[in-house]
Amino acid sequence: MTSLYGTASISAASSRYSIAFLPSFRVAQHSPQLSYPRSHRVGVRCSYAEPGVKENSNVGTIDVVADIKTERIVVLGGSGFVGTAICKAAISKGIEVISLSRSGRPSYSGSWVDQVTWITGDVFYANWDEVLGGATAVVSTLGGFGSEEQMQRINGEANVVAVNAAKDFGIPKFILISVHDYNLPSFLLTSGYFTGKRKAESEVLSKYPMSGVVFRPGFIYGKRKVDGFEIPLDLVGEPLEKLLLSIENFTRPLNSLPASDLLLAPPVSVDDLGFAVVNAVIDDAFFGVFTIEQIREAAAAVKA
Ligand SMILES: NC(=O)c1ccc[n+]([C@@H]2O[C@H](COP(=O)([O-])OP(=O)(O)OC[C@H]3O[C@@H](n4cnc5c(N)ncnc54)[C@H](OP(=O)(O)O)[C@@H]3O)[C@@H](O)[C@H]2O)c1
Repeated sequence: MTSLYGTASISAASSRYSIAFLPSFRVAQHSPQLSYPRSHRVGVRCSYAEPGVKENSNVGTIDVVADIKTERIVVLGGSGFVGTAICKAAISKGIEVISLSRSGRPSYSGSWVDQVTWITGDVFYANWDEVLGGATAVVSTLGGFGSEEQMQRINGEANVVAVNAAKDFGIPKFILISVHDYNLPSFLLTSGYFTGKRKAESEVLSKYPMSGVVFRPGFIYGKRKVDGFEIPLDLVGEPLEKLLLSIENFTRPLNSLPASDLLLAPPVSVDDLGFAVVNAVIDDAFFGVFTIEQIREAAAAVKA
């Protein structure tokens, strides 16, 4: 039986894939455990030669039609602690990334930094034509602390604005970084931080009932960059995560106690959160609300 070998470089408008393949048409199978539902059809013409034939004979061409996934995500707050990890993970998986934040491009360098399109702007005054054009998903990391009013505004209203802009633009998926509720009784969840987060979650889940994703991490660890310095939150977060996971069989009965998760909720690595977002971006079957444990599982499914 004759076997044929070839390589093809595909240059579609928004595709960066270069594929080495056997012409048994395996080009669509990038990664067996992941689905690539939104795809572009790309025609490829390539040449092949029969093995053992050294020179200039029996060279022909075949046409291959490959389904190539081309994702383009907009990360709101891509320059922040979590946003940076999302941008980095997405770039590592060949996803095109646009970031919107008021500070724009971060001051540090790195090969992935150069591959992100950094847009400077405020989500409340954004030129959405410039930001959202051609996007397949929006990821919001907008959130933070401050006065009651500020927390309502950035955790709640800013995300509501973004969800509605994405919906109006027909962006098929919206992913929100929210927060774990730490098992707190409802009367303790009345701060602008939590009420803002829940308002944002409801907006995502009502406007995107079949594709919206809400991640609810607890404490997130990694290396946080602040004013040129690096705060190694992982020095505490990583061992704490390992410890709490190793004793979770013993502590599980305590989980139903109010506020117990203030002590028992395991921290999440910022890199895991980044890869969980990548999983949500590339898999259409991935939607709903995701707990700390599910974030870790979602990350494990896409990490190399
Ligand atoms: N860090 C944690 O341990 C933790 C735990 C649970 C949940 N979370 C949630 O995870 C999300 C990300 O947290 P983080 O620690 O990465 O926060 P962060 O470092 O402060 O990042 C927030 C990002 O949002 C941008 N931003 C803020 N206001 C904006 C506006 N009006 N328009 C455009 N961009 C704006 C910021 O950039 P500019 O200031 O330059 O605009 C920054 O890039 C938040 O929603 C937070 O509540 C964090």
